[in-house]
Amino acid sequence: MCGIIGYTGYGDASEIITSGLHLLEYRGYDSAGMTICTDSGLMTVKTEGRVSELEKKVKSKQFKNAFCGIGHTRWATHGEPSEKNAHPHGTGNVMLVHNGIIENCAELRQMLKKHGYRFDSDTDTQAAAYMLDLEYKEEKDSIKAIADLIKHLKGSYAFGIIFADEPDTIYSVKKDSPLLIGIGENENFIASDISAFINHTKKYIRLCDGEIARITKSDIEVYGTGGKRLFKDIETADIGAVELEKKGFEHYMLKEIYEQPEAVRKTIRFLSNGNMPDTRYFKDIEVFHITACGTAMHAGLIGKYFIENFARVPVYTELAGEFRYKNPILSKNDIVALISQSGETADTLAALRLVNSRNIKTLSIVNTDGSAIARESDNVIYTKAGTEIAVASTKAFTVQVAAMLLTALKTAEAKEKMTKGEADSIIGYIYNNIERSLLSVFHSDTIEKASEIISARHDVFFIGRGYDNYLGMEGSLKLKEISYIHSEAYAAGELKHGTISLIEKGTPVIAIATDELYYDKIKNNIEEVKSRGGYIISVCPENAEKIKEVSDTAILIPNDDKPLRPFSAAAAIQLLAYHTAKKLGKDIDKPRNLAKSVTVE
Ligand code: M6R
Repeated sequence: MCGIIGYTGYGDASEIITSGLHLLEYRGYDSAGMTICTDSGLMTVKTEGRVSELEKKVKSKQFKNAFCGIGHTRWATHGEPSEKNAHPHGTGNVMLVHNGIIENCAELRQMLKKHGYRFDSDTDTQAAAYMLDLEYKEEKDSIKAIADLIKHLKGSYAFGIIFADEPDTIYSVKKDSPLLIGIGENENFIASDISAFINHTKKYIRLCDGEIARITKSDIEVYGTGGKRLFKDIETADIGAVELEKKGFEHYMLKEIYEQPEAVRKTIRFLSNGNMPDTRYFKDIEVFHITACGTAMHAGLIGKYFIENFARVPVYTELAGEFRYKNPILSKNDIVALISQSGETADTLAALRLVNSRNIKTLSIVNTDGSAIARESDNVIYTKAGTEIAVASTKAFTVQVAAMLLTALKTAEAKEKMTKGEADSIIGYIYNNIERSLLSVFHSDTIEKASEIISARHDVFFIGRGYDNYLGMEGSLKLKEISYIHSEAYAAGELKHGTISLIEKGTPVIAIATDELYYDKIKNNIEEVKSRGGYIISVCPENAEKIKEVSDTAILIPNDDKPLRPFSAAAAIQLLAYHTAKKLGKDIDKPRNLAKSVTVE
């Protein structure tokens, strides 16, 4: 969480940093700030709220000759979102921006107070900034001061640093938070993510934990532990300039929902062209483990359903935040699959490192090229959702589901539970029909009507069986995330074991029933809810008469062969959340308290 950017060159640093911060805003958006080096010295501007607020303040300052600077967009960990807690933090000697958490900030604060430092923010970052100031006063050498600083720190960090004595130079150091150095012509950058400088350069260096970088407009020096100069590989990003266009859509989330057919087709095309492990890789696997967070975990749960159903291989699933601390039982023929859109989620990355330390096969399903999770896994299945800007994940979820299906089918082939022809025909069917199927969901007018009912209530429940249970979890998360309506998801048969006590007259219960295997059973569960006053909104195929007849409102998805139903039902629940949030006037693309990339545990 938090996005950092730094620029040094002949361009207007304040403008370049502002536009970079807009591109990094997905990482946090509760406050923002920048320190700019000008002929009149270091100038710092901060604001509570969005980068657009910062932009107004920066413009009003009319910096002259702003040749270097660092900027930050924040997702609060220590201290409320406010101007005083916004970064950069520091002193007249040094200013820094930080992404991560300093876990021992309380002890550092105590110690620094004894040296006369006064804290006017509640952040952990200010302690790091003052510590660096103290070291710099003693050392009078920037690199040595930074090397000494990090000896004091526990936790995670990526820092962008400017010393007043060297106003054209940015320093950077990282541990467990991402940091890239963008290489331009007569200008250089640092950023949490390529997107922040991709409009200027595609060439970059990846800073590793413990390395210290010194960056001017014409030179980049990287030092390893012990002060040894390192010559790092230069990488070239294979993404184009980040599109900030909404292309006529009111919100990025809606645009991204509509991009799903193409994203799924692109993912299938890419993976079917030899870009995923072949059947030999899956042949000896005895147990799958799947771990991830949030929406990615829901894709993992659907993956579990696919793998167990098609390949008859047992699958254990565990949220990454639990997995990493539970001393998981892993055996040599197991494989651990890790799913992540960003490829940098702290818990998922920690789970991966734990598995790597046990020498067990790891397979990541990742949307971001070259991300930490992709780099550190034995094997990667890249999904092709493209850039997802809305915080609420939509197209990244459906491509993860597609990737899990392909993984399940490959495993089924490897285990001789299915022929290649059978697997290909399922994939081919999805590839050829997903557009038609999802378009019919996009054109449904029942979704908006159902969202009217939901938007008037405080509590909503989702029920489902089989993979529909997991789709319910995703629908519930989406609704909470962007509409702030309380919602819970249950396996349909489980509701009566307690939660049904919360059903009262008019409580919306969204029954996802796309698998005819369960129609009779879920129909009974719907009746149980109805007889307690619940209002049933079902998501079911057009020909699911048994479900339709017990529903108050039915959102119909095409009768297509089963493989497409998880995708069309996913689109339906995403749109349900979207329209509900829109009716309530919520900030759909940037919901409160959230950030897209969760790089703290
Ligand atoms: O980047 P990741 O896929 O690892 O992110 C995992 C979750 O943080 C993410 O899916 C989150 O739940 C989304 N905001 C949900 O829409």
